[in-house]
Amino acid sequence: MKNMLVTGGCGFIGTNFIRYLLEESDFKGCVVNVDALTYAGNPMNLKEIEQKFTERYAFIQTDICNKADISRIFNDYEIDTICHFAAESHVDRSIAGPDTFIQTNIFGTFNLLELARENQGRIELFHHISTDEVFGSLGKEGYFTEETAYKPNSPYSASKAASDHLVRAYHKTYDLPVTISNCSNNYGPYQFPEKLLPLMILNALEGEPLPVYGDGLNVRDWLYVRDHCTAIWTIMKDGKRGETYNIGGETEMENIRIVEMVCDILDELPASKRDTPRRELIEFVKDRPGHDRRYAIDFTKLTREFGWMPEESLESGIRKTIRWYLDNQVWVDRVRSGEYQTWIKEQYG
Ligand code: NAD
Ligand code: DAU
Repeated sequence: MKNMLVTGGCGFIGTNFIRYLLEESDFKGCVVNVDALTYAGNPMNLKEIEQKFTERYAFIQTDICNKADISRIFNDYEIDTICHFAAESHVDRSIAGPDTFIQTNIFGTFNLLELARENQGRIELFHHISTDEVFGSLGKEGYFTEETAYKPNSPYSASKAASDHLVRAYHKTYDLPVTISNCSNNYGPYQFPEKLLPLMILNALEGEPLPVYGDGLNVRDWLYVRDHCTAIWTIMKDGKRGETYNIGGETEMENIRIVEMVCDILDELPASKRDTPRRELIEFVKDRPGHDRRYAIDFTKLTREFGWMPEESLESGIRKTIRWYLDNQVWVDRVRSGEYQTWIKEQYG
């Protein structure tokens, strides 16, 4: 793996992955980050990386659906590895307007697969980043394994399921060397504040209401983003081509409990002390349509085959995340105000 195309590298997980790959991992090659810079993409996240790794990092703003541009990138950079993050990723947005989810998540993935097939002689790996949401919703018991049947419930998860099927089909039909990972809910630095944890942290800091959907008893399994990155890199290096791997944190928790945890940690930190307890800001609001009740991931395959385990506990991960949002006020202000979109226009047209 010498020349890696990373798609969606200016988003939350992509940013963390590129940082991990260049600054911490044993990867020795070059990264070409392709990102369309939608509302969720923020090239400021990787400004220092651009300056520090001038020989090993390039950023190109384009859409994964643009075949001519991506084809040129495959040729110009002699791409041999693809790590595909780019997607529309927010369930609520997919309910309000599914079109871009179908376009980017399904057609965009198809486009990349076709280009990988056209360059097949050179391609060592196409790694596809996916989600546990493709499996649907669990009852009180049980876990998603790699054998669980797909049963997606939102336009987002249906579009991710479709892309997973395409990736798998390109392996079976054309022998494209692929791996797929299905991961649970990530949290950590650089997450756009539309997702539960950053939204709750920032609203709680500003004394704004904390909207909890329905009865707040929906369960998610939470994984600190750096642990997701170490798992992805492990799979890319050692995963068997054509296989799927589940990734999770073994940290199931009801939404209301995690929101209370954020409130309590913020109340207790000297940097964010407040006169009244933040739990008073919690408001139960209308439920998300089709809201999946419970996700829980069985990642024993990853542990058994490669010894991978998450390093961060839920509490240590949330404390680190809160610290990051407290220490990165400029990033927060720009993202919250939309100022970075103006900056993107000035920088990238
Ligand atoms: P994100 O929304 O933060 O980032 C997505 C990135 O993709 C953005 O930089 C955006 O500009 C870019 N993008 C969107 N459409 C594009 C297009 N047409 N062409 C090029 N770039 C485009 O998402 P994230 O949370 O970092 O998720 C990354 C991937 O991981 C997604 O595939 C998502 O399904 C998957 N995933 C996310 C989680 C999670 O908890 N966030 C968990 C499991 C899997
Ligand atoms: O499971 C992996 C998935 O996790 C990823 O594939 C998605 O890209 C990612 O967005 C995430 O999906 P969720 O829908 O689980 O994440 P979200 O942060 O939107 O919501 C987490 C839970 O919190 C969910 O049960 C809905 C609830 N919620 C969310 C928000 C934004 C609230 O109660 N209030 C809120 O304001």
